Amino acid sequence: MKDLLLAMKNKAADELDEIRDESELENARVKYLGKKGELTGVLRGMGTLSPEERPVIGALANEVRTMIENKIAQRKEALRKKALSARLLLEKVDVTAPGVCPPVGERHPLSKVQDELCSIFTSMGFDIVEGPEVEYDHYNFEKLNIPKNHPARDTQDTFYITENVLLRSQTSPVQVRTMEKQRPPIRIISPGRVYRSDAVDATHSPVFHQLEGLVVDKGITMGDLKGMLEYFAKQLFGEDTKLRLRPHHFPFTEPSAEVDVSCFVCGGKGCRVCKGEGWIEILGAGMVHPNVLRGCDIDPDIYSGFAFGLGIERIVMRKYNIDDMRLLYENDLRFLRQF
Ligand code: PHE
Repeated sequence: MKDLLLAMKNKAADELDEIRDESELENARVKYLGKKGELTGVLRGMGTLSPEERPVIGALANEVRTMIENKIAQRKEALRKKALSARLLLEKVDVTAPGVCPPVGERHPLSKVQDELCSIFTSMGFDIVEGPEVEYDHYNFEKLNIPKNHPARDTQDTFYITENVLLRSQTSPVQVRTMEKQRPPIRIISPGRVYRSDAVDATHSPVFHQLEGLVVDKGITMGDLKGMLEYFAKQLFGEDTKLRLRPHHFPFTEPSAEVDVSCFVCGGKGCRVCKGEGWIEILGAGMVHPNVLRGCDIDPDIYSGFAFGLGIERIVMRKYNIDDMRLLYENDLRFLRQF
């Protein structure tokens, strides 16, 4: 039995030295020290020993057990250290290495100006509403008092999808959609994309952006329109900005006007930006036509309203003195980084 224990001691020592991971270590523990383990087996045979032999073998068995236990603990610690240093090596961070600066983007000038317009109007109490870009002829034309033979309906100008469905050529259909859903008082703006079958050049694009405005209530007058637009223009272009309304025609407003602001570069003297005019046209506007109100079940004898529509590109171009609209769509970072 003594030989058996000594042999076990050597074998276990060699075996444990070879072990490379923790689960193998656990297997070895069970193999020697477990309930059915080798050492336990030997100890079970102690009953057959003589009283003289028993303490000697017992002491030896304890020695073997202690050796195995220590060895396992030692190996466990060594394996843990090894794993840790391997991991530390893998996760090493050189805090002195130069950093990588992630490129930070800029908002597109069109978005910036659109946001600015929206915040000026919401500060005046306007709500922002949206309308579909794929629109019915009914809303884009019919309900806006644009008769069947009006030149704006010419397929040259409008992208038709079917006879009755088109890409909206203006944001004005949102006026009608709003008045159909909502009773006065109404005070909304609606920014968004519009489409016209125009060839691309420095001032035209088949896709561009407008911002529509609509106010309907009792007793709304042209004076309200002018006062509101004046406040708006001063907010956008500066306190000294003056406003000029020129008579115009839109089928869905009566009277109608085109609205100019005094040139915010030269103040009205005439310069490159205003092309010597002193004035810059920024939008179309007018009093909502009684036919349009009536078509939305709003009684024009009780209610009146004004509407306006401006081209966002044009304002961006004037504001930043950009002379070619295509620059806004080409996504050239050298251009876009300037704003
Ligand atoms: N919808 C007109 C356009 O596209 C602009 C406009 C809007 C004019 C509202 C008057 C009132 O030119």
